[in-house]
Amino acid sequence: MTGQAGVAIRVLAARVLDAVMHHGCSLKAELSATLPQVADARDRALLEAICFSALRQRAQADAALRQWMPKPPGPRDGELRALLHAGFAQLTALQLAPHAALSATVEAARPLGRPHQAKLVNALLRRAQREGLPAADAAMSWPAWLRRQVETDWPEQAQAIFAASQEEAPVWLRVNRRRTTRDRYRVRLAEAGIEADVPDALADALVLRSPVAVNALPGFADGDVSIQDGAAQAVADAFDLPAGARVLDMCAAPGGKAAHLLEREPSLDLLALDVDARRLSRVRDTLARVGVSARTVAADAAQPAAWWDGRPFDAVLLDAPCSATGIVRRQPDVLLHRRPQDITALNALQARLLDAAWTVLRPGGTLVYATCSLLASENAGQLAQFLARRPDASARPLGPGFGRIAGAGRQRLPGEQGRDGFFYARLEKAAAD
Ligand SMILES: C[S@@+](CC[C@H](N)C(=O)[O-])C[C@H]1O[C@@H](n2cnc3c(N)ncnc32)[C@H](O)[C@@H]1O
Repeated sequence: MTGQAGVAIRVLAARVLDAVMHHGCSLKAELSATLPQVADARDRALLEAICFSALRQRAQADAALRQWMPKPPGPRDGELRALLHAGFAQLTALQLAPHAALSATVEAARPLGRPHQAKLVNALLRRAQREGLPAADAAMSWPAWLRRQVETDWPEQAQAIFAASQEEAPVWLRVNRRRTTRDRYRVRLAEAGIEADVPDALADALVLRSPVAVNALPGFADGDVSIQDGAAQAVADAFDLPAGARVLDMCAAPGGKAAHLLEREPSLDLLALDVDARRLSRVRDTLARVGVSARTVAADAAQPAAWWDGRPFDAVLLDAPCSATGIVRRQPDVLLHRRPQDITALNALQARLLDAAWTVLRPGGTLVYATCSLLASENAGQLAQFLARRPDASARPLGPGFGRIAGAGRQRLPGEQGRDGFFYARLEKAAAD
C-alpha cells in the first residue's frame, strides 16, 4: 500500500465511523457505499477490519479519551473522535505495524480538514501504542436500558454476554451437500492453504481458523459453500422435512436458511417471502448460486390475505425480525441504533407474524420460530403469550444441541461453541379431529 493509499483508507474509516457513531447510519450501508471506492482488495479488507474493531472496542477507546483528554471530542468533533477510534483499533486490536498505522492516521487529519488537530492525534495514538487502552467494562458499550434488560433476562450470564459480544466472530462455512461433502471440501480448503475445523454437532459446518475473503474460498461462486454462522445452521436441524413437503419461509431474506433447507432436500416446494423486495432479490441470487429453486414473493407475511392461495403448509419457518442482540459481535452498530420503542414494535410484529404463520399451517404441521435475539420478550415471553392464546399449539421440545432451555424453546448465548446468540422454538399444530 502506498503512503497515499494508506492515508485514504484512514480518511474513509473515519468517515464511516463518524456516520455510524454520530449520525445514526448503519455500518452495513456505509460500508456498502464506501467499499466500491477502494480498488485494492487488501485495502478493502483493512478498511472493514478497522471499522469493525473500532466499534467492538468502543468502550475502551472512550475510556482512553475520557482519561487522556481534559475535554474529550464533543458533537462538533465527530470526525476527530472517529479518527481516534480508528487509530486505537489499528494499534491495539489489529496490532498493525505501529509506524505505518500511526503516520497514515495522523496524516488523515489533513484531508479531513483538521490539520490543526494532527499533533493531538499523534500524541494520543502514541500513548495508546505505549500503554494500550485502559480497561473498560464491556457492558459500557451497551445503552443503559438494553444493558438492564439483558441483566434482567440473564442475571448470571450477562457479563459473559457483554464480553462475548466484543469478540471477533469466527468465519463459519456451510458446505453444500448437493455439490460435495464436508470432508472433501475441507481437503480443497487445505490445498488452498486455508485451515478449517469440524465443529461438534453440525453436519454441514466448518469453522475457519483465520478469516479469509469470500472469493478466496474454493468454489464459492459455484455454490459449493456459503458463509453462515453455526447458530443459523442449527435452524435446519429443527425440521424433519419429507421429500416434496410444502414449506413457507416467512422472512426469508437474504436466504441463508431457505438455501440450507433446499440443499438438504431440493424437492421441497418452498415459498420464500420477504417484505423487502430489494432484499428478496438477494434470496434469488443465493438460491441460484447454490443451485436450488423456490418461489419468491415480496409481501407482508403478517397479512396472508395478500399472498396466500389458501393451501396450507406442512411446515413454516418464522426467522423473525428482531433486536439482533445475539449477533452484536457481527453487527456492533446494533448497540448504537436500538431504541426501547424498537423492541415494543418488534414484539408486536413478531406476535402478528406468529398468528399469520398459524393461519397458514396445516393441522399436524410444524412451525419453527427463531430469532437472533437474547431478549425474553422476543423469545420465551413471546412464545408463552402465543401458547396461551392458541390452545391448538404445543411445544415440540428441541434437544440440548440448541442451547439452554428458555421457556418453550432453547437459547444459545453468543460465543457458546463459537456460535452467535440465537433462540429456537418448535411448535406443533394439533391435528384436526
Ligand atoms: C432475521 S432476517 C431473516 C434472515 C433469513 N431467514 C436468512 O436466513 O437469511 C428477518 C427478515 O424479516 C423481514 N421482514 C420484516 N418484516 C416482515 C414482514 N412483515 N413480512 C415479511 N418479512 C418481513 C426483513 O426484511 C428481514 O429480511
